[in-house]
Amino acid sequence: FRSGLLSGRHLLVTAGPTQENIDPVRYITNHSSGKMGFALAEAAAEAGARVTLVSGPVHLPTPDRVERVDVVSARDMLAACEAAMPCDLLIAAAAVADYRPEVVAPHKLKKDPSTVDGMLLRMVRNPDILATLANRPDRPFSVGFAAETENLLEYATRKLLDKNLDLIIANDVANPSIGFNAEDNAVSVIDRAQHETRFGQASKGHIARQLVAFIADRFLKA
Ligand code: C5P
Repeated sequence: FRSGLLSGRHLLVTAGPTQENIDPVRYITNHSSGKMGFALAEAAAEAGARVTLVSGPVHLPTPDRVERVDVVSARDMLAACEAAMPCDLLIAAAAVADYRPEVVAPHKLKKDPSTVDGMLLRMVRNPDILATLANRPDRPFSVGFAAETENLLEYATRKLLDKNLDLIIANDVANPSIGFNAEDNAVSVIDRAQHETRFGQASKGHIARQLVAFIADRFLKA
């Protein structure tokens, strides 16, 4: 793509998992590696955008010319994103935990007689970062991901409309050669007219450059 395609534009990317603490030594998280979000941030910086990358705990180097903000929990991620607003474009690639433990125990939970048979951990809903930002009066051009194991296009389209997005990138995480932690990806992008554009299996870096070009084109036409 043209190197100045997104010059003068501010792009916010969320990436990686979130980590939700149970007590000082335990937490709940997921298998997101952050690779797709980091590749998108890198491609957008190459396209000339000013990029803020808000990332959960991952083991990845920061791409050149990208401003990175590290966070732990979903609530931290929302606060960091709100602090980075306004932006022109938002790509939400983070795998945000839907629920967090209702209370974080101040001390390590012990195996005591009351938990011999098992224990219950009460969880409460986390905020939806993407939906929150996509519904602000100063909403950016908003792009989400739908990682699904079944009914991919139907669930993705529903998410696009429910969260008030401009585009949604659907990927089939039931296929182990693409998606979570894999080096490759293959995705479909769905727009508000429910038109689907396919990007066939390729490295996450290659898919990211194709997606940034596609998103920039739609954003500049909007
Ligand atoms: O509803 P679901 O989690 O499948 O939606 C996925 C999309 O929403 C992704 O783009 C993800 O980054 C975003 N999301 C979010 N905050 C949440 C849950 C999901 O930003 N709490």
